Amino acid sequence: MLTSSPRGTTDILPEEARRWQWMEAVARSLCARYGYEEIRTPAFEHTELFERGVGDATDIVEKEMYTFLDRSQRSLTLRPEGTAGVVRAYLQARLYSQPQPIKLYYIGPMFRYGRPQSGRLRQFHQFGVEAFGSEAADLDAEVITLAGDFFQSLGLTGLELHLNSVGCADCRPGYRQELVQYLTPRVGELCETCRSRYERNPLRILDCKNEACQSLSVGAPKVTSFLCPKCAAHLRAVENHLRASGMAYVLDPFLVRGLDYYTSTAFEIMLPGEAGGSIGGGGRYDKLVEVCGGPPTPAVGFAVGLERTLLAMKQQGLTPAPSRGPLVFVAVAAPEARAAAWEVLCALRRAGLNADKDFLSRSLKAQMKYADRLGARLAVILGPEEIAGGWVTVRDLQHGIQDRVNRDELIGYLQQFLPDKQVENK
Ligand code: HAM
Repeated sequence: MLTSSPRGTTDILPEEARRWQWMEAVARSLCARYGYEEIRTPAFEHTELFERGVGDATDIVEKEMYTFLDRSQRSLTLRPEGTAGVVRAYLQARLYSQPQPIKLYYIGPMFRYGRPQSGRLRQFHQFGVEAFGSEAADLDAEVITLAGDFFQSLGLTGLELHLNSVGCADCRPGYRQELVQYLTPRVGELCETCRSRYERNPLRILDCKNEACQSLSVGAPKVTSFLCPKCAAHLRAVENHLRASGMAYVLDPFLVRGLDYYTSTAFEIMLPGEAGGSIGGGGRYDKLVEVCGGPPTPAVGFAVGLERTLLAMKQQGLTPAPSRGPLVFVAVAAPEARAAAWEVLCALRRAGLNADKDFLSRSLKAQMKYADRLGARLAVILGPEEIAGGWVTVRDLQHGIQDRVNRDELIGYLQQFLPDKQVENK
């Protein structure tokens, strides 16, 4: 118990954390390029926000939320997704009074109490973006291309973008009615979950992975045949912009997302192959800000699952984990050199160099082995001779070449020797 993490959670150990840092850096630089700024919202919110925002007939709200009463008997919920909290923050900070669109991004942990399996965790991480205050189709296209560029920058290939429109308050009820009519004589063939969805959330049946439900869906009426002129025109405009940006997509009239807030555009990015599945998804949610008590504000966004992204990268043999070993390892050839070595180490670090030392009183040979293990590029060695002469020995650990350098000139020497980017900003 004390040595295992709770079910559905994982530790991200240093080697893996380097991959995460790299992936997050890709996300951040892409967001800067697209003009999206970071927002950090709390990991828990009032339960009502998700009940109203995500929708109380969704699997997430019905079965997957970590909800608890705090010591003051308030009902709080660990965020199962990022959109609702960002909408709440947008309203609380009155961001709607600033020039629109407001374009935000976040990277952080989300919590869903599902059955853990490969790529499905109880604490997982999303990178997501939300853009508020414009109903222009090119904003939908921007958000979608940003998602596509993210995966492309990571080197992932073979992903498929599925696009649909789920209609709006004007046209969805008509479609829903048609769908219910189609399903009514077939309810008995549905899986147990879908039988309950039939009453409360029939559109979700189209998205069921059960074989019987899927084969029923094939003959079902398509939402795209019921779109109002505004939704139909919007979908066409999004398609045009995607085509112009060179982004391939598949129109998928049975794509329904697992959250209730979507209006018109809905999309998902699917992994290739049998195991497939969604790696990210999003869409428009033009009513959510209002539902949460704000002024009418159109919005669009997406989120990608970062664990699933890393898993896909591993499956495609893309596992960059750049070594972050110290550039310089400061070693002592004799105990009396320790004080001088400490001074040198401090000076190197203050000069912006990544440097480390031994903390276990190892022999010089063992220090060199350890330096190697850490991935150090150079060793600076100090012994009695070096101290008396005011110099140090610098050993290139890759090539085995050794040099004698004046202590006063050491920093300049190392900085010249090392590639620019390895010298951190001072
Ligand atoms: P979502 O489709 O529920 O959308 O989640 C987005 C992504 O999070 C999924 O495609 C998947 O990669 C990842 N994900 C979801 N659940 C898990 C889990 N249990 N374990 C691991 N990864 C998971 C949303 O959350 C929306 N808020 C997206 C959005 C933003 N729509 C508009 N703006």
